[in-house]
Amino acid sequence: MSFARRDGELCAEDVPVREIADSVGTPVYIYSAAALAERLRALGEAFAGVRHLVCFSVKCNGNLAVLRTLCRGGAGADITSVGELARAQRAGIPGDRIVYSGVGKRRDEIDAALAAGIKLFNVESREELRAIDAVARARGVRAPVAFRVNPDVDPKTHPYIATGLRTSKFGIPWAEAGEAYAEAKALANVSVVGVDCHIGSQLLDVAPFAEALARVRTLVGELRAAGHAIAVVDVGGGLGVDYSGETPPSVAAYADAVRTALADLGCEIVLEPGRAIAGPAGLFVTRVLYRKRGGDKRFVVVDGAMNDLIRPALYGAHQPVQPVAPARGEPAPVDVVGPVCESADFLAQDRPLPPLEPGDLLAFGTAGAYGFVMASNYNARPRAAEVLVRGDRFAVVREREVLEDLFRGETIPEEFTA
Ligand code: LLP
Repeated sequence: MSFARRDGELCAEDVPVREIADSVGTPVYIYSAAALAERLRALGEAFAGVRHLVCFSVKCNGNLAVLRTLCRGGAGADITSVGELARAQRAGIPGDRIVYSGVGKRRDEIDAALAAGIKLFNVESREELRAIDAVARARGVRAPVAFRVNPDVDPKTHPYIATGLRTSKFGIPWAEAGEAYAEAKALANVSVVGVDCHIGSQLLDVAPFAEALARVRTLVGELRAAGHAIAVVDVGGGLGVDYSGETPPSVAAYADAVRTALADLGCEIVLEPGRAIAGPAGLFVTRVLYRKRGGDKRFVVVDGAMNDLIRPALYGAHQPVQPVAPARGEPAPVDVVGPVCESADFLAQDRPLPPLEPGDLLAFGTAGAYGFVMASNYNARPRAAEVLVRGDRFAVVREREVLEDLFRGETIPEEFTA
């Protein structure tokens, strides 16, 4: 177990969480290398026998040491910006294991991705297709492309993270796919290699995946009939995880749905999982500052805040929380809130927690995905440290920001301020 109790104390692999918090300070993100590697391995194993590539979605956790851990397990990267490309490359992920999705790729970003020799551009509009063709022409290369098609399937998840509906900004409309592929085929500097589809994140049912991929399957047939050499199907990410007792599909059930829809097409299958790999492999640890009451409510004020972990404030998301030390009494409902000056600055609401005292540590679970990456400096709060644990050792893999980091790049120009 990556995060389990020993003698009542919460541990990250073989290291007591308290030891990390005392040495590195709080708030801090803690990742388990074993959990990352194991989750990647399990997903790969579910696809054994099918030609596939797992491209970890860098947007959910771009820490270099995390990426390196996954790279060593054979993962590629799903990127969404030149910044994520740089992270993937810095972590040692080769270009031919990188796929690039996103609705607004700039020309300099396209150029950098071509220079890196990436495996696939997931193209999200015909205007973007033309931009990719033009940038590739200037370089004298051909860009490998797939269109991200929008299957108009309801993934039944939070509206902010549903992407496969007709009204979403993502992908090209299903009805336009034929024309878009025909246009791509006629361009000299792109080569059409595949079809891409991502319908949303934190999916808790396989049915929407199966429905979308059945449509993709039909499309692949039609495209092949029209003379396109479709060799790759990128199925996106989206597999959900357990935050509060949800029952996400097992990797086996997920793989089954993908295999059923696609296995006999003879395509390479690209997967873009993020949360399902990194989510459960991370904790966010914060320390209690004060306790207070407001009317009937009991608040626990901690040193972590919405700028560190924004999911509760942004999506009303539930992140599981537990004290790091053994419980000291009976649980009672409290709100865990941070120091940021916003009422939305809560990490947990009405959650039964045992009595806590200033100085106690709280650990938020399933925080390895969309945690640190979404952190900001709001309220001029330096961003948290990140720690990677492996067995009985841990290392700071991103230092806590210091005050000086807050001013980096800022100037006070004399002529404007005199
Ligand atoms: N591929 C594409 C094209 C994506 O847009 C995403 C996520 C993924 C893969 C990875 O999806 P995953 O396997 O992690 O579900 N910040 C939100 C989640 C945003 C997801 C954005 N796209 C959250 O904290 O819930």
